[in-house]
Amino acid sequence: MKAVIIRKHGGPEVLSYEETPDPVPQKGHVLVKVNYCAVNHLDIWVRNGISGKTVQFPHILGCDVSGTLIDRFGGFKKGDKVIIYPAIDSNVSRVSFGIIGGFGKYKGGYAEIIQVPKKNIIKKPDWFSDQEAASINVSYLTAWNMLEKSRCKKDDIVLVWGANSGVGSAAILLAKAKGLKIITIASDKNKAMFAKKLGADFVIDRNIKDVTSEVLKFTNQVGVDAVIDHVGAKTWPVSLEVLKVKGRMVACGTTTGGEAIVNIRSLYSKEAQIIGVYLGSKSQLVALHKFMKLKKIRPVIDSVFDLKDVKKAHQRMEESNQFGKMLLQISN
Ligand SMILES: NC(=O)c1ccc[n+]([C@@H]2O[C@H](COP(=O)([O-])OP(=O)(O)OC[C@H]3O[C@@H](n4cnc5c(N)ncnc54)[C@H](OP(=O)(O)O)[C@@H]3O)[C@@H](O)[C@H]2O)c1
Repeated sequence: MKAVIIRKHGGPEVLSYEETPDPVPQKGHVLVKVNYCAVNHLDIWVRNGISGKTVQFPHILGCDVSGTLIDRFGGFKKGDKVIIYPAIDSNVSRVSFGIIGGFGKYKGGYAEIIQVPKKNIIKKPDWFSDQEAASINVSYLTAWNMLEKSRCKKDDIVLVWGANSGVGSAAILLAKAKGLKIITIASDKNKAMFAKKLGADFVIDRNIKDVTSEVLKFTNQVGVDAVIDHVGAKTWPVSLEVLKVKGRMVACGTTTGGEAIVNIRSLYSKEAQIIGVYLGSKSQLVALHKFMKLKKIRPVIDSVFDLKDVKKAHQRMEESNQFGKMLLQISN
């Protein structure tokens, strides 16, 4: 099969599009012909490498897959369109689970064929196209879980960082459909326009305005009910500062670094909470599918690249030029 292989950590140059042997089915696993695989920021972490995290080289990235079943099993027929729930058993203590195509032994979806545990297969919801079905299993599931953990109710105010990102754009669409008021952050005029179109109520261009004072102005100095923070070190201090009394900061990412200096006094004096979120459960993914169908929500797709152009896709994400999800087209 054709696949994108990495043999060491590094920049986009370590992504090698080449012929490689098809996976051999193992007990309890199935083979899926990959139609589309989304690019997620996790792919960049794994490609670059993170100290203390290991992969087994040669490795294949890609955790967000829609595809076609190669063989029947259980209630599934050969040729069924499916998606893959990306969490697998953890082999690391004090980590909830691993992710297919992430750190660990499972090879991912930057390939014509992927092997996954049978229990990770979900029938593709009819509401989504093959492209859309490869966009929702990581960013949308995480945003959904973050919004659930935020415990926001209708008309609550939520601050969403990075409007153009996979997680941010998903959080805006889902929060809007839940009836929340959304403040979001962009870093230029185009991204701000995009955020408005998605349904944000108030957009702050962080390169022009001070985020803390703008959020406090918008909320009459009260602060927001919750913050969806996937950016990490650079945004945590502001995220905590703009929370209202008993507000919740929900965190899932470290795009700008994993070690933040925060105002602990501000945290406890308003009895605020910091909540960590890691992906979401399979049942949350199924509930998300139903919600998106009910509310007629379609994931925002930025662009589709041929698998062999994967380096261009990674560069686009690293330059943060995307508005929503980027996909690799593989077999469809
Ligand atoms: N815990 C989990 O289960 C989980 C699941 C999914 C994702 N994540 C993590 O969440 C993060 C986002 O993932 P993604 O795929 O959505 O990434 P992405 O599409 O590459 O988005 C990155 C975002 O970060 C923003 N950003 C970068 N520097 C910033 C700064 N200094 N201040 C404010 N915003 C900044 C960018 O905004 P601009 O373009 O405006 O710079 C962009 O919107 C990643 O770290 C990823 O690993 C975690």
